[in-house]
Amino acid sequence: MENNELLQSAKEALKGAYVPYSQFPVGAALLAKSGKVYTGCNIENASYPLTCCAERVAIFKAISNGERQFSKMVVVADTDRPVPPCGACRQVMNEFFDAKMPIYLANQTNEIKLVNIESLLPFSFQPTDLNENRRK
Ligand code: THU
Repeated sequence: MENNELLQSAKEALKGAYVPYSQFPVGAALLAKSGKVYTGCNIENASYPLTCCAERVAIFKAISNGERQFSKMVVVADTDRPVPPCGACRQVMNEFFDAKMPIYLANQTNEIKLVNIESLLPFSFQPTDLNENRRK
């Protein structure tokens, strides 16, 4: 799948955002190695911290459908610069994405920044820190 198609899916997903508090809609589209695309939008709550970002909605939809391997992700918002994912989403991406999997951060004027989870979250807490890298 072309990056542009995935960007269009993310822009379409953004339209579903539930953002009565921030009026800041975000869309995400995640391509699994199965070939399926999982989209997400941010979903806010009157109890603000319960809000879930677009990225995590897309990742959790994919994981809950049995996906474990991913090819690329696009995130889009109507920002001046390509939208940077929050810290919580970076940690969730770190759990499931290969270090160098392409993550395209975009805005509505089609400025695109290519990053990966290694660059977004250096020296991250890894599943291996819980077991093989743990001091017994
Ligand atoms: N948000 C996302 O969905 N993804 C991001 O990358 C940045 C922030 C959402 C959370 C909240 O609904 C709104 O944007 C403002 O923080």
